[in-house]
Amino acid sequence: MLRSHGGKHPEGVKYDFSVPLNPLGTPEVLVKLFEEAIRLKMYARYPDYEYNELRNAIAEFYDVKAENIVILNGAAEGINLALSCLKPELLIVFEPTFGDHRQLAYELRIPIISISYREYENKFELDLEAVENLAKHIKARALILFSNPNNPTGVYIELDAIKNVVELFEKSIVIVDEAFVELCEDCSTALHIANDYENLLVLRSLTKTFAVPGLRLGFLYTNNEKVLNILDACRQPWNVNSIATYAFSKALMFRGSELKKFIESSKHIVATERNFMVKGFSELGIRVYESHAPYILLMHRECTAKEAIKALTTLGIYVRDASTFPYLTPYHVRVAVKLKEENIHLIEAYKVIGIR
Ligand SMILES: Cc1ncc(COP(=O)(O)O)c(C=O)c1O
Repeated sequence: MLRSHGGKHPEGVKYDFSVPLNPLGTPEVLVKLFEEAIRLKMYARYPDYEYNELRNAIAEFYDVKAENIVILNGAAEGINLALSCLKPELLIVFEPTFGDHRQLAYELRIPIISISYREYENKFELDLEAVENLAKHIKARALILFSNPNNPTGVYIELDAIKNVVELFEKSIVIVDEAFVELCEDCSTALHIANDYENLLVLRSLTKTFAVPGLRLGFLYTNNEKVLNILDACRQPWNVNSIATYAFSKALMFRGSELKKFIESSKHIVATERNFMVKGFSELGIRVYESHAPYILLMHRECTAKEAIKALTTLGIYVRDASTFPYLTPYHVRVAVKLKEENIHLIEAYKVIGIR
């Protein structure tokens, strides 16, 4: 298998820490609308292939322009569409990061330049100097891709640094994958600056915010009409199913304030629980990296990820082996931030097994 993602756990796992999502789960208002969509047999209809109602609802909720939105089957679809359809001459990626871009770039014969985040004892940081140096030498029409906050390190790049990258690569396209930005208390979204730059594309995932990975919804935002038309022409006509379309159109348009409150509480819980977990793992002598996301990257000092996973699954717990990400080691593990009781369970399991 070429791909490597969380969520593929063995039978009997009760606590899946390998998939980061909103720890509060799916909001009740959405669950009710999914049930309503099924009662109305929405699955027996094609969704509107232009997604007009859904684009208007997203525009209203996120305070952006509906005509600048491409509806996606989750943020992941945006990465695939951009690579396949914008046909860049080069992919520049800040890594480690989420995605199957390496396999796809290989199949499309697109060369890759990878810039590694700088690693310190307890955090990673964007190597802006390396980015600036590269920008001086790149003549190719490149696609620059990074996630913010980054998966798996949890690094958050401030908007000023993003503007800097976008300006340095003005002849190229920059994609900021903000799949987790709504679950971060101290992050700002690049949607605020997306209307100012023709070469900036912002990717968002409602899948993560509203914990619906099985249903899936995302969008891409750009004020570059040419790019928007290419991506919209490239997606398949009914890329988001009619149940997600029905429920999200209604919820975002008519229950916006409720959902905004839900997001605010979610951010707060993520920050509180993440602090709790950072303290717990640090006390066990495990290396913990600073994170702005609903997950934490850990580096064990003695036990490999594979050994830890083998032991943890016997206790019904699953974590993400992060050694599959470029620049990480067999000792790196990513754990999702969940609710208190589950987080305590994970840390206790580390103690009982003696993972260090
Ligand atoms: C940074 C990042 N972007 C995108 C995705 C995929 O999001 P979606 O499920 O909305 O496609 C993930 C999933 O883990 C992710 O970590």
